[in-house]
Amino acid sequence: MSNIGSYEERYKDFTWSVAEKELEFQPGKPLNIGWYCSDRICARGKGDKTALVWESASGAAKTYTYHDVRRLSNTFAVFLQGLGLKPQDRICLFMDKIPELYIGLLGIFKMGGIAQPLFSAFGDESLFVRLDNAQTSAVITQKKHAPKVRKILDKLPNLKHIIIVDHDGKAPLKDRDVAFSLEKADPVETFDAYPSEAETPSLLHYTSGTTGQPKGVKHVHYSLISQYMTARWVLDIRDDDIYWCTADPGWVTGTSYGIIAPWSLGVTQCVMDAGFSAEAWYKFIEKHRITNWYSAPTAIRSLMKAGDEIVKKFDLSSLRQLASVGEPLNPEAVIWSERVFGKAFLDTYFQTETGSIMITNYPDMKIKPGSMGKPFPGIRATVLDPKTYEPYAETGKIGLIGIRPGWPAMMRTYWNNEETYRKKFQNGWYMTGDRASIDKEGYFWFVGRDDDIINTGGHLVSPFEVESALLEHPAIAESAVVSKPDPINMEVVKAFVTLKPGFTPSADLDLEIMNFIRKKLSPLAMPQEITFSDALPKTRSGKIMRRILKAKEWGEEIGDTSTLEND
Ligand code: WT7
Repeated sequence: MSNIGSYEERYKDFTWSVAEKELEFQPGKPLNIGWYCSDRICARGKGDKTALVWESASGAAKTYTYHDVRRLSNTFAVFLQGLGLKPQDRICLFMDKIPELYIGLLGIFKMGGIAQPLFSAFGDESLFVRLDNAQTSAVITQKKHAPKVRKILDKLPNLKHIIIVDHDGKAPLKDRDVAFSLEKADPVETFDAYPSEAETPSLLHYTSGTTGQPKGVKHVHYSLISQYMTARWVLDIRDDDIYWCTADPGWVTGTSYGIIAPWSLGVTQCVMDAGFSAEAWYKFIEKHRITNWYSAPTAIRSLMKAGDEIVKKFDLSSLRQLASVGEPLNPEAVIWSERVFGKAFLDTYFQTETGSIMITNYPDMKIKPGSMGKPFPGIRATVLDPKTYEPYAETGKIGLIGIRPGWPAMMRTYWNNEETYRKKFQNGWYMTGDRASIDKEGYFWFVGRDDDIINTGGHLVSPFEVESALLEHPAIAESAVVSKPDPINMEVVKAFVTLKPGFTPSADLDLEIMNFIRKKLSPLAMPQEITFSDALPKTRSGKIMRRILKAKEWGEEIGDTSTLEND
């Protein structure tokens, strides 16, 4: 029997006080995620249990007990305080998936800072807009990523420290650099965590918008309540489990379910800091006897592509619970996983803004491959008529997914952008921006996004950001960016550009532009294909019509072109 047991029974009269009681949290009392994820586990007699098993691509391996995580996050917190960093200062984590990232997050929470995790593959421009927007005080990073921070230092007067966690102490430190070694620092055995309350801000995750720069989604310490409960009931994590979340903490899944949820449950979690390889992944599962595995559709499709034969080379019998998030999980992937692993991946749905799983499948509930399942207990989700923002009276109609506000992990605002935050609500519903339908049995079926944002391999990319970056290339006059279908990543970035006089299309220029975007933004945002055009379709008012370009890529009807200028 799973942790949740009967979904219907749990849904009926659920309140979040169920989770509050399990976590012994009393409303009005302090709540610090850093304390919950380490000190509390130790206080419950599990200090010697393994908290983290870490492996890198080069074969390096480390393990940490809960006592280690408690002590080292204290050490981190004291070091940050020593630099003069104060509660509510924004402190960015800009690292690969190394132990310092995981332990550093708790360290920031413990001294009351607001953690701002950023994907380590981000280029200087992606980094700049986010650090500038958050007015970040310090960046914690590695030697290899520090040059990207230094490049933009002059434009960031508020950024006081670049903390380098792998500095050998020998090479001279550059402007605003400070070296910190978790291994060499004096261990701090006891530390009074900052007495944050439920509504104290904890984390800023940046997410791409359709127009304008990325938005900083503000989360608070109370998010723990829903992250803990969903991990218990959806991911079905139990005390003796070995858990592996493949997500990077630069994104919400990697913090909510790759750090906070597992450690608040006191479970052993494994981290692999390496790129994708089917062989390496299966080996990792076999070696560590992984029981619960939380991954993403693109990875699952890549595993499918690697074939069934390779699966047989490994003993994967430890696997008990599989789940997926971030993009549509196609029915074939569900059926395939059931065949080769003997377990179906449960499709789960949420967003950076929702902070925790909203609509999902459950261990003991019938799976309909291709469906995202049903709302989590305590979550009221529905499909709204896009004209009236009222729930449809009949089932099966496609509309907008709306969720009644008020669950613990919901974003509290967009950083410095209350106006955009307010626009996310209609008729009392939080609007996810996704389209879906609900069937007669209450299962949700994802249809697509209601905006131009590109979801490539589970990562959102804003066409606006890529278009703006393209315009900074000396050869480019105009740009339009849309998605294009892809068998593994579902969608990839495709750019249409017109060139300035004096430039001619060539394979070299094509490559040069791709690299330009990869370096400036990230490998995810890099166009996989560039089409050089003489003109881009525009409305009479001069707005480039992405819709037309996108429809062509997807072989869809172009629709209404009555406002088109140059057809
Ligand atoms: C968007 C949120 C959730 C953590 C990682 C992404 C899409 C998410 C699913 C799913 C279809 C999904 C939605 C959503 N999405 N999960 N199970 N099926 N689409 O967080 O970067 O904020 O992206 O990802 O479009 O709005 P995010």
